[in-house]
Amino acid sequence: MKKKVALIAGVGGMCGGNMAQFLHATGQWDVIGVSRGSPELGEWVRHIAADLLDPQQTQERLVNIEHVTHIFYTALLTGKSYEEENDLNTRLMRNFLDAALPQIRKLEHIHVLEGVKWYGYHKGAYKTPAREDDPPCSNPPYFYEEQHNYVLKCQQGQSWTWSTTRPGAVCGYANGARINLMMVIAAYATIMKELGKPLIFPGDEATYHALTFTSDVGMLNRAMLWASTDPRAANQAFNIGNGDAFRWHDMWPRIAAMFGMQAGPVKTTCLVDFMADKEPLWRDLVHRHGLKQGDLFRLAPWGYADTVFSRKWDNMISMVKANQFGFTEMIDSEAMMQRIFNEFRETRIIP
Ligand SMILES: NC(=O)c1ccc[n+]([C@@H]2O[C@H](COP(=O)([O-])OP(=O)(O)OC[C@H]3O[C@@H](n4cnc5c(N)ncnc54)[C@H](OP(=O)(O)O)[C@@H]3O)[C@@H](O)[C@H]2O)c1
Repeated sequence: MKKKVALIAGVGGMCGGNMAQFLHATGQWDVIGVSRGSPELGEWVRHIAADLLDPQQTQERLVNIEHVTHIFYTALLTGKSYEEENDLNTRLMRNFLDAALPQIRKLEHIHVLEGVKWYGYHKGAYKTPAREDDPPCSNPPYFYEEQHNYVLKCQQGQSWTWSTTRPGAVCGYANGARINLMMVIAAYATIMKELGKPLIFPGDEATYHALTFTSDVGMLNRAMLWASTDPRAANQAFNIGNGDAFRWHDMWPRIAAMFGMQAGPVKTTCLVDFMADKEPLWRDLVHRHGLKQGDLFRLAPWGYADTVFSRKWDNMISMVKANQFGFTEMIDSEAMMQRIFNEFRETRIIP
């Protein structure tokens, strides 16, 4: 069978990097990936180093991609404000599609990764469980909507189809990811244990008791592939979570047990500040335990941690649509966390 060819924007990231590895492992895909920095992937990926914010550089470097069959768009830049984030990410996608689409001869599909911010999770309480036909957040809209509208505009008169997936906190490994819940928890627990402290919940009481959910990165990647290749999923958006939901007040003591620790009380802590002087401690751990990643602030995005542990409202999606359209996988979130922390240990990311 002739191999399909994936062009992944954001190939070094949590979602794009894991997607690249997943597609490669099937043996049925060639993978081309775009990002500024070199991804921690093998020789099998054809990496194109391009800054998608620079339209000219993108046009010059994004070449020899005529044979691409599927685009997976997973690039992300965070901004100091949501206005800046919207502007950056709208430009990223436009520059990328403007450079890529005219060259590709037989494009079959564009998959764009979105998230629960589509529903306004980042702004405050939203209707839960969120359904795909709920309205996108407004005042201001998030960049996902602008990106989606641009894909629809590009699709006019073309034969290719699109799909999107909307995960919650994506759980897996990626060094340098801007959003990485499991790495934040694993590095925080490792440091608290080293300091001889209990696993204090660094957020606030409201967040501790609110409902939330996670999305295993492997499951998300399988959903992305399904949505991009199953004709039933063409031109549709799908929420993708593990299928369950939990409250930190139930999960946190279980996570503490996964690290052989006692769960501490809730004590609101700015993790960016708390971690500011922990680099020497982390480097010592790296040295003593033969760990791989020495840069504590690149490994775990502490700014993101401070936001995720201070969302005081419920965060929950309905997975009914994906299930009815044909993606029926579910994962127990507690079992997923235990597996991921074990993987972090086996791959020498944490002791
Ligand atoms: N991770 C999560 O928990 C999560 C949850 C829900 C939704 N999502 C959504 O999923 C999508 C992907 O997120 P992610 O977590 O995978 O992000 P990520 O780990 O931060 O990866 C982003 C990728 O984009 C690349 N990139 C950033 N700026 C670029 C530029 N100017 N030119 C070229 N490449 C650039 C980065 O590489 P370089 O920096 O090397 O260029 C990196 O490869 C986003 O829409 C995000 O909102 C993520």
